[in-house]
Amino acid sequence: MNLRVVVRSGEQVTLVEAAAPAGTPVLAAAEDAVRRASGESHPDVWAVDLAADPALLGCVVSRPVTGQAAGELGQRTRAAADARIGFRPMTRADFPDVVTWQCRPHVARWWSSEASTVEGAEAHYGPALDGTDPTRMWVTEVNGRSVGMVQDYRVGDHPDWSLLTARPDAIGFDYLIGDPARVGHGIGTRALWAFLRDVVWPGYPGAGEFFAAPDHRNEASLRVLDKLGFVRGLWFDEPQSDGSVDTVVGCSLDVRRVLGLVTRR
Ligand SMILES: CC(C)(COP(=O)(O)OP(=O)(O)OC[C@H]1O[C@@H](n2cnc3c(N)ncnc32)[C@H](O)[C@@H]1OP(=O)(O)O)[C@@H](O)C(=O)NCCC(=O)NCCS
Repeated sequence: MNLRVVVRSGEQVTLVEAAAPAGTPVLAAAEDAVRRASGESHPDVWAVDLAADPALLGCVVSRPVTGQAAGELGQRTRAAADARIGFRPMTRADFPDVVTWQCRPHVARWWSSEASTVEGAEAHYGPALDGTDPTRMWVTEVNGRSVGMVQDYRVGDHPDWSLLTARPDAIGFDYLIGDPARVGHGIGTRALWAFLRDVVWPGYPGAGEFFAAPDHRNEASLRVLDKLGFVRGLWFDEPQSDGSVDTVVGCSLDVRRVLGLVTRR
């Protein structure tokens, strides 16, 4: 697979090219290329669009880099590059924000109504916060502000979901950005990349597959998964709590191909 990394060093934005031969994880190949070009020992490389050919990644370094100017790709990746992403465990103090996010129209359209009230949030997420449900709940922060939530779990811990997806060994995750000002600028892709690399990958050592299943009409979510290197698989029907049925698309990430075999963070 051929790669291009948009490397930002102050105002300078440079394209670094590389190849990830079969057997070399995409992340390792991109990090090596940035290391060689910049001398930076631990570059923070993220996926911009792994479905493109060549695949596109981004990185910010502190040292000057020689190479061709990135041009329009520099503009395209600016918002994501400027975003400082973090994740912290959700607490009950986050429930009012969770309710606000899930009531926003761009979320409510695709997220089953788990938390339209604080009581609903307590009923749905309280057991996970108390550790009686093994799902892990997180709040996504961008530049120090809470903007959305993510959850991860072993698919096999949820028998109904495991039966539907036929993916008992995969690690499932669900995500939303509740702040509409943050949507549509590449931040969701960068945030989910950071989540998968820094939270999920080390949290489930040895996992070979990450899995998500957006509604077949949820173009933004499907496109984000494409950009992260997921492959779309089978469509299946998912019964909802209100008695309706959503047709969703099972999407899988080959962890070893994209991130590698051994977690490093
Ligand atoms: C899914 C979500 C996290 C994505 O975050 P984001 O910051 O908007 O993602 P990005 O900006 O990185 O990428 C969105 C991509 O979808 C594309 N997109 C958005 N709406 C689209 C539409 N209606 N049709 C086609 N493509 C669309 C964007 O153009 C962009 O692709 P591009 O980079 O090729 O232009 C966010 O939209 C969200 O929270 N949605 C509501 C909750 C939700 O749907 N969660 C997922 C449940 S499975």
